[in-house]
Amino acid sequence: MINDIKYIRACSVSELEEKKGLRVISDNGGEAAVFKVKGKIFAVDNVCPHNHTPKMHLGKIKDNDILCPVHLYKFSLRTGKNLNNQTSGLKTYEVKIIDNDVYIEEPKPADFNFTF
Ligand code: FES
Repeated sequence: MINDIKYIRACSVSELEEKKGLRVISDNGGEAAVFKVKGKIFAVDNVCPHNHTPKMHLGKIKDNDILCPVHLYKFSLRTGKNLNNQTSGLKTYEVKIIDNDVYIEEPKPADFNFTF
């Protein structure tokens, strides 16, 4: 715990490739997508708030935004705001770098019951 937020180790900094998402699954079943963009590291929920598809780690990065690969809705990597106003925002998670390791706020498990 750091500042009352539970963090989990996601990866080492060197494992992240520029603009390529890494899927991180927590012991609680929550999922995050971690990205490095221009040297800065972001963590967002891996589950898109639109159709609840766990594919944000496959999203395309454009500037500081992420496009969901399923229907291309655009979200801010920094705030999670849906920039098309088509759905609710994407959860974002705190990131800490300690030595060469990336720690992220533990992602929350999905709180919906959705079957495909
Ligand atoms: S599931 Fe992500 S935009 Fe539709």
